[in-house]
Amino acid sequence: MGVIGQEIFVIIGFLGGTGPEGKGLALRFALAGDQVIIGSRDKARADEAAASVAEYAPEGSVTGGLNDEVASASDVVFVAVPYGGHRATLESLREFLAGKVVVDVVAPLVFKRGIVSATRVEDGSAALEAKAVLPNSTVVAAFQNVSAEDLLEPDTSIESDVIVCADDADAKAMVIGLADSIPGIRGVDGGGLQNARYVEDFTAMLLNINRIYKAHSTIKIVGI
Ligand SMILES: NC(=O)c1ccc[n+]([C@@H]2O[C@H](COP(=O)([O-])OP(=O)(O)OC[C@H]3O[C@@H](n4cnc5c(N)ncnc54)[C@H](OP(=O)(O)O)[C@@H]3O)[C@@H](O)[C@H]2O)c1
Repeated sequence: MGVIGQEIFVIIGFLGGTGPEGKGLALRFALAGDQVIIGSRDKARADEAAASVAEYAPEGSVTGGLNDEVASASDVVFVAVPYGGHRATLESLREFLAGKVVVDVVAPLVFKRGIVSATRVEDGSAALEAKAVLPNSTVVAAFQNVSAEDLLEPDTSIESDVIVCADDADAKAMVIGLADSIPGIRGVDGGGLQNARYVEDFTAMLLNINRIYKAHSTIKIVGI
């Protein structure tokens, strides 16, 4: 947590923030007035990604660092690595992530001959895997359905709902607030972390729809 004058602000970090999803979310939160840190396994890559986001963001709001520096310096840490690196990344950062809110955006997918499928995860979902690996962190699952390409367009409003699943009510409310801070996005309470599997799997459906319609589809929940 940082303090400027009397104002307390939350620092948001991104593991794997050099990829399009982490970079896109970092851009949107920086534009919303948050302090963000882009993480990487390589400091030069982190700095390069931070510089590209900083071009559009308020001055001084974006920095880069190694993933472990990002995990320890942030209050809220987004996990934006491919599923293949998910468990190992979290295991290696467990001590730095203790006591933090960890937001998992990972959708475990397989791409084969132009078709996207959801992969079965032993723990039930990437989010539940994160919870098992990080017993001393508060895991929230969100943003798995939001296209990085849309996030990376700073002037575009994204018409989408973001389903937020967590077992901790305060952390869930905080992440719903973060979702609401992006123009056009609405955070929706998706219940406990066990429901994250449905959101992760549905990402495969959206990507298959994208291929058919040559579009960036997303979800809207009606009737609530
Ligand atoms: N792309 C989308 O539109 C989108 C939408 C919703 C959700 N997501 C989810 O967000 C996550 C990130 O997506 P992305 O497209 O940004 O992924 P990506 O570009 O493939 O990877 C993001 C970053 O993760 C790091 N990384 C790569 N392999 C790794 C490994 N084995 N272990 C640790 N770090 C590794 C790399 O950063 P360094 O080399 O700099 O460390 C890379 O720049 C995915 O799990 C995806 O399911 C993506």
